Parts: sequence; C-alpha cells; structure tokens
Amino acid sequence: MTDQKKLRAGVIGLGWAGQQHMQAYFDAPDVELVALAGMEAEKLAELSEKYGVQRQYADWESLVKDGEVDVVSIATPTALHAPITVGALNAGIHVLSEKPMAESGAAAESMVAAAKANDRVLDVSFNHRQRGQVTALKEIIDTGLLGQIYYAKAGWLRRQGIPGLGTWFTRASLAGGGAMMDIGVHMLDMALHLLDNPQVTSATAATYAEFGPRGRGGSAYGPRANVDTEVEFEVEDLSTAFLRLDGGGTLLLESSWAQWIPYDQCYVTLYGSEGGASIEWGGWGVEPYQRLNVWTEVNGIPAELQPIVPEHGHHEASVLQFIAKVQSGDFAAHRGEEALIRAQVLDAIYASAAKGSEVTL
Ligand SMILES: NC(=O)c1ccc[n+]([C@@H]2O[C@H](COP(=O)([O-])OP(=O)(O)OC[C@H]3O[C@@H](n4cnc5c(N)ncnc54)[C@H](O)[C@@H]3O)[C@@H](O)[C@H]2O)c1
Repeated sequence: MTDQKKLRAGVIGLGWAGQQHMQAYFDAPDVELVALAGMEAEKLAELSEKYGVQRQYADWESLVKDGEVDVVSIATPTALHAPITVGALNAGIHVLSEKPMAESGAAAESMVAAAKANDRVLDVSFNHRQRGQVTALKEIIDTGLLGQIYYAKAGWLRRQGIPGLGTWFTRASLAGGGAMMDIGVHMLDMALHLLDNPQVTSATAATYAEFGPRGRGGSAYGPRANVDTEVEFEVEDLSTAFLRLDGGGTLLLESSWAQWIPYDQCYVTLYGSEGGASIEWGGWGVEPYQRLNVWTEVNGIPAELQPIVPEHGHHEASVLQFIAKVQSGDFAAHRGEEALIRAQVLDAIYASAAKGSEVTL
C-alpha cells in the first residue's frame, strides 16, 4: 500500500536516462516509485517488476491523468520534454526533465511559464554538474583563489559516439540539434555554473556533419554503431562556439559526437587573474581518467594544487536535489529559469551557425 507521507514518483521514458531516475527514486528515502510510462511493452513490464511498480502506462498522458503521482521525471526524446512538462505541471505534478531542457528556447519558455502558472517545481537534470571535480572547483572559485575569471574553454569530444544513429537522436524535429544539444549542453551548463552564471551576450558558431550522413561515427555501445550506409541524419556531429559574456569574459565551447581524435575528452579550463584551473575526464581508447588541477602562486612560488575530489553524485544527486526542492515548499525559487538560459544560448549557437555570423542574445 502507498505510504501517503512519501512523495509518489513516476518516470516517463524507459531508456538509459529514465532508468537512472528510476533507480534514484527507488533508493531515495521519503519517496516511493509508483508509476512508469514508455512505449516498449516488454521493458515496461520488466522494469515495473524490478522496482515493484503497479502503475504502468504506454503513453505519458495516461500517467499524468492518473493523478497518483506528486513528482515525475521525463526522459523521452527531447521534443517531448515541453509538452509532457506542461501537461504534468498543469496536472499539479512537480517535474524533473532530462537535459537538454527542450529542442528550442521557445519550448523551454513554455515549460517555465507552466511552472509559474501552476506554482510547481521545474528542474532539469544536468547530472554532470554532480561530478566531484565540479563541486570541488566551485568551492575553490568561491574562495576567490582564481581571482577574476576572464576566459574559459569547455568541450565534450567523442571519437565515435553518435547515439542512436538514424533514430530520434539524429532527427532535427525530435532532437533539436546534434552533439552540442546532446552533450555540449552539459559543458555549457558546467562552465556557466563555475563562472557564476554570467549573461551570455552573443554567440558565433559553426556546425558540421562529416560522419553521421555516411553512417559513420555510431556509438560503439549502442544498437547502431557504424552502419556505413546513408541514414537519416539531420543534425550536426561537431559544433564549435565562441560566446561573449557580460563583463568582457569569453567562453570557447566545442562538442563532437564523432571526429578523428585519439580518445574521448571532456574538459573545462578556466583562466583567472590570480589562478587557473582545469577539470578533465575521458576514456574510450585510453584508461578512463579524471583530473582537477589548479595553478596559482603560494607566497610568490608557482604552485600546482591537486585538490581532493569528492565522489561523483551522478543522477542520484540530481534526483535528490529535485526532491529537496519539492520538500522545501519554496517552489518559486525553482522554475527552471537557469536551464531556460542554456536553451536560449543553444538557440543562439544554432542560429549563428545557420547564418554564418554573430548572433546577439
Ligand atoms: N543526462 C544524461 O546523462 C543523459 C543520458 C542519455 C540521455 N539523456 C536524455 O534523456 C532523454 C532520453 O534519452 P534516452 O537515451 O533514454 O532515450 P531512449 O530513446 O532510449 O528512450 C526514450 C523513451 O521515451 C519513451 N517515449 C517516447 N514517446 C513516449 C510517449 N509518447 N509516452 C511515453 N513514453 C514515450 C520511449 O518509449 C522510450 O522508453 C533525452 O532527452 C536525452 O537527451 C540524458
């Protein structure tokens, strides 16, 4: 029987992302995972059995209409995030959406508007922000050790990692974009978070699709690795962007699903007036690695610091933070507005790439 003191949680979407949310709700105290929705009947039955979930739905509308959940995670193709979020918020349900928030700034805006209109929490899961390197570096920055950070570089570069080659991931109307929308957005979010959320004032960007259209560059882990034949590929597999920030700072961002590089690399590098810092992690072709380094001076002596890094919090931490926001009762402080800004920056990046010149925000 449902314990009414516990928050009742639902998850929409049964893929890798949805399963991270299921596990996190299942493990969370004060929460009961009560409902799942997704179109793969067998997987729905299997996951419902694994988590002891009674309420199972083939479509999101039925879960939302059911009225038996207080909070819901959305892990569907990106273009469904906005309609599901708005539907759930209108039904009085607090929402945690997977990244990217939506396929466009306008769609993201409709989500924030619905959160405000219904006085509910809207949160977006940027799980890579839960990395110990990010938590540790943020604390270091907040002490002032780096001084004024005036330049930053961030990137997520995969050698061969187009997710679902030829599936919704590579269709513009469902995904909204390619590598930058899918994984670059994590690094954009991380960099802006570390820089203390300066306003992005303009974007100059370019996009390329050299692998996907030829059926090359498919994720080695997924069901569609290299297929070596033409596939529906309407998005980019590499994007680069130069962002101007309020106050004169700049951020150089790059992201690839596939390109000829030795191994997968993720990084944020910060250049400050009193010190510099770098977060790096990667793998695929090399031993997985992760590093956090800080360069500064101690009493005039050039120094390199290797701070102790806490554990990666993964999706579990994102879900727990969302639950804490709901439990805080201060819904007005959590309307997804920070994520909306990420969506608007992505709009500007794609608009600049299409136009071939700078776009102001
Ligand atoms: N944060 C991360 O680390 C991470 C990793 C992977 C994916 N994601 C994000 O999560 C989302 C899902 O990605 P995925 O790889 O799990 O996708 P997926 O294609 O594996 O799964 C999508 C799920 O959505 C369900 N779905 C589609 N239409 C539906 C409907 N009308 N009603 C109910 N369910 C419906 C499908 O049945 C499927 O179970 C995407 O937005 C993606 O960007 C995030």
